Amino acid sequence: MIFTARPSKNFVFNLLEHRLSKITSGIALDAGSSGDKNRRLFKTDIYCGIDIELSKLKQVAQKTKDDKNIFYLWADLSYLAILPSASVDVVVSTNTLYCLPSKARKKAVKQLCRITAPEGQFFCEMVMDADFDIYKKIFHTYFELVDIFYYRNRLSRIYEKIMGDTGSTRYRVFATSFPFRLLAGVLSVFEYFTASYIHKEKYVFILCKKRKNIIKKKLFDISQLPLIESNIYSAYIQK
Ligand SMILES: C[S@@+](CC[C@H](N)C(=O)[O-])C[C@H]1O[C@@H](n2cnc3c(N)ncnc32)[C@H](O)[C@@H]1O
Repeated sequence: MIFTARPSKNFVFNLLEHRLSKITSGIALDAGSSGDKNRRLFKTDIYCGIDIELSKLKQVAQKTKDDKNIFYLWADLSYLAILPSASVDVVVSTNTLYCLPSKARKKAVKQLCRITAPEGQFFCEMVMDADFDIYKKIFHTYFELVDIFYYRNRLSRIYEKIMGDTGSTRYRVFATSFPFRLLAGVLSVFEYFTASYIHKEKYVFILCKKRKNIIKKKLFDISQLPLIESNIYSAYIQK
C-alpha cells in the first residue's frame, strides 16, 4: 500500500501498484522516470527508465550499474521512433505527459502505444484537457481494451485544498506525517466509488490492453544505440 499525503495520488499509485504486481515477466518501460522514482512498483524481469534529463538518469544509474536487468534511456518521449514497435510488456507514464506541450504530447502518446507489445499493457495518467477526445481516439486505434478511471473526486479536492495547493510546496508539513498520510489513504478509498464518473477537475488514469492488428511481439533491441555509461543508452535527438 502506498500512503502519500494526497488521497488522489494514493488512489492512482495503489491502483498502479496492484496492476503492476501481476506483471512479473518481460520488460517494463517507465516513461518520464525521473531517475527511477517508481522502480520499486515494477516486478518485471527488466526495467528501463526513460527521461529527457540525463542528469536524473546519471544520479541513479551509478547505483544500479551492476544489475544487468536495469537500464536507462536518455530520450524525449515524443521522439521514440527508433524504438521497436510492439516490443514492451508494460509501458507506464505517470506525472509526466502533462509536462509536454500539446503537439509533443500527442506524438508521445502515439509512440508509447506503438511500442507496447501485443499482449502488453499501457498505463498513463493525464489531465483531461480539450484534446482528451483526440487521445481517446489514439488509445482506441491501438488497443481493443481501454479503461478510463476518473480521479480526484470532490472529497479528495476538499481535503487537498485544506492541506494546501496541489502541486505547490505549500502543502502543509503536518499533512505528510504518518497519521495524516493514513487519513489520506482512507479518503482515497472513496475514489474507487467515483472512478467511473467525470469530476469537476478532470484527472484520468488510463489502462490500455490488447494491441489491435498486431500479433507477434518484437524484440526490444536497442543494442545499436550509443551507450553514454554502462547502463544508459542515448536515443536523444538534438532539435
Ligand atoms: C514529475 S516527474 C514524474 C516522475 C515519476 N514518473 C512520477 O510519477 O513521480 C516528470 C519527469 O518527466 C520528465 N520529462 C518531461 N518531459 C519529458 C519528455 N519530453 N521526454 C522524457 N521525459 C520527460 C522530467 O524530466 C521528469 O523527470
